[in-house]
Amino acid sequence: MPEETLTITDNRTGKTYTVPLYKGTVRALELRHIKTDAEDFGLMTYDPAFLNTASCESSITFIDGDRGILEYRGYPIEDLAEHCTFLEVAYLIIHGELPTEEQYVEWKNGIGRHTLLHESTKKFMEGFRHDAHPMGMLVSTVAALSTVYPEAKEVHDPANRMRQMVRLIAKMPSLSAYSYRHAFGRYYVYPDNDLGYIENYMNMLWRRVEPKYVANPILARALDLLFTLHADHEQNCSTNVMRAVGSAMADPYLSVSAAASALSGPLHGGANQEVLEMLDLIGTKDNIPGYIQEVKEGRRKLMGFGHRVYKNYDPRARIVKRTAYEVFEVTGINPRLEIGMELERIALEDDYFVKRRLYPNVDFYSGIIFQAMGFRPDMFTVLFAIPRTVGWLAQWQEMLQDPEQKIARPRQIYTGSQRREVVARALRNSTPAVAMPSR
Ligand code: SDX
Repeated sequence: MPEETLTITDNRTGKTYTVPLYKGTVRALELRHIKTDAEDFGLMTYDPAFLNTASCESSITFIDGDRGILEYRGYPIEDLAEHCTFLEVAYLIIHGELPTEEQYVEWKNGIGRHTLLHESTKKFMEGFRHDAHPMGMLVSTVAALSTVYPEAKEVHDPANRMRQMVRLIAKMPSLSAYSYRHAFGRYYVYPDNDLGYIENYMNMLWRRVEPKYVANPILARALDLLFTLHADHEQNCSTNVMRAVGSAMADPYLSVSAAASALSGPLHGGANQEVLEMLDLIGTKDNIPGYIQEVKEGRRKLMGFGHRVYKNYDPRARIVKRTAYEVFEVTGINPRLEIGMELERIALEDDYFVKRRLYPNVDFYSGIIFQAMGFRPDMFTVLFAIPRTVGWLAQWQEMLQDPEQKIARPRQIYTGSQRREVVARALRNSTPAVAMPSR
C-alpha cells in the first residue's frame, strides 16, 4: 500500500519535508513547518475564491462535477425527485436518514405548528415600499426574526437549535408569500395547516376570496420537486457564508439572512431571474447568434450556463427541463422555452462553450417554469431560498458539531505599503486626487 504522504523539497534551503495526505488533501497547517529560518512564519496556501480548497468535512451532499452526479446523504437526486416529497428530503438532509411514516407525520405536523408569523413581523413587512424586491424583504425579515426568538443565540443547545431550524423551514414560505402579495397590495393569507407544505405555500400566495384554497396537483407536485432539487449543494457560495457567519456563533436567523444575501447575487441564485431577463432581451430565435457572439466577445454571460463544479450537464437541469413539460400541460407552454432550448442547442455545439465545459445549470430552466406558474422573475431567487434554507441549516448544524471547526478567519498575502510615518497634514504633498461623490 503506497504511503499516504508527499515528500517536498524546499529549493530555498535544500531541506525535504514529509507531508501526510488527509483524504486526498494536504492539511494547509502542515505547510507552516516549511520555513527558511526560525523567524519565518512558514508557508500558507493561496487559493482566491477557493477554487481548490476543502473548507470542511461534510456527509450531507456529494457532487461529482465531471460525471454530473448529485446525491443527498448517498441517495441520487433522480431517485429522491421521483420517489420523495420535499419534506421527506428535508428530513433526510437534516437528520441523515429518510423518515419512517411515523417520523414523517411528526416532522410534517411539527413544521405545520410553526408556519404562523408573529403579528409584529407582519407590521415590519408592511413598512416596505410597494415595489420592494421580494428578496430584499426576505433577507431583512428573516434577520428580524432573531429579535422575535432571542433564545436562538443558544446555538449549542440541540433541542433549542432544532426548534429554530423547524421554525425557519416552516416560516420561509410564509415570509415569501407575504413578500409576494405585498407587491400587489393584497391581504396576508394565514397558513392553512390542513394543506401540505407546498399546497399551503400556494394557498398563502394565491388564495383570493374562496373559502378553501385548492392547489392544482400538477403544479404542486412540480413545485415540490423543484424544492427538492434546490435543497442543498455542498459548499456553494451561500452555504460557505452560512458556515462562516455561523462559525462566529451568530444565531441561525442572522446566518440564514447572510446566506440568502449571498444567494441573491446574479452569479449564484440570482441567475434564475437573470436567465428570464436574458431570454426577454434576446426576444426571438433570430437574435440568438448575435447574443452568442456578444458572449464570446466577453461582453455578456450566458446566464444559467456554467458551474464551478459541474463540468457536465447539471443533473438538476435535466430534471427541471423534463418537469417544464408537465407544468405546461396546465399553464400552456412558456414561449421563452423555445428560445431557451435553441440557445442550449447552439451552445452545446459551439466550441467556445464546449471548450470551457459550459452546460446548463439548475437556473437555466427553473425560471421558465416559475414564470409559467405565475411568479414574477423577482420571486425566482426567493423560490430558491426557501428550499435551500434546509441545506443551509443542515450545513450550519454540521459545522457546529464538527470538533475541528472554529471561527472562520482566512489569512492573506499583504501587498500594501510598507511601514511608514504619518506626516503632518500641512506638510503632505499632493497625493493622486480621490474622486469624491458629487453630493
Ligand atoms: C448556482 O456552487 C453551486 O453549487 C451553485 C449552485 C447551487 O445549487 O448552490 O449550483 C447554484 O449558483 C448555479 C450557477 C448560477 N449562475 C449562473 O448561471 C451565472 C452564469 N454562470 C457563470 O457566471 C459561471 O459559470 C459561474 C459563476 C457559475 C461559475 O464561474 P467559475 O467557476 O468561476 O468559472 P469562471 O468564471 O472562471 O469561467 C471559466 C471560463 C471563463 O472564460 P475564460 O476567462 O477562461 O475565457 O468560462 C467562462 C468564463 O468567462 N464562463 C462563461 C460563463 N460561465 C463561465 N462564459 C459565458 N457565459 C457563462 N455563463
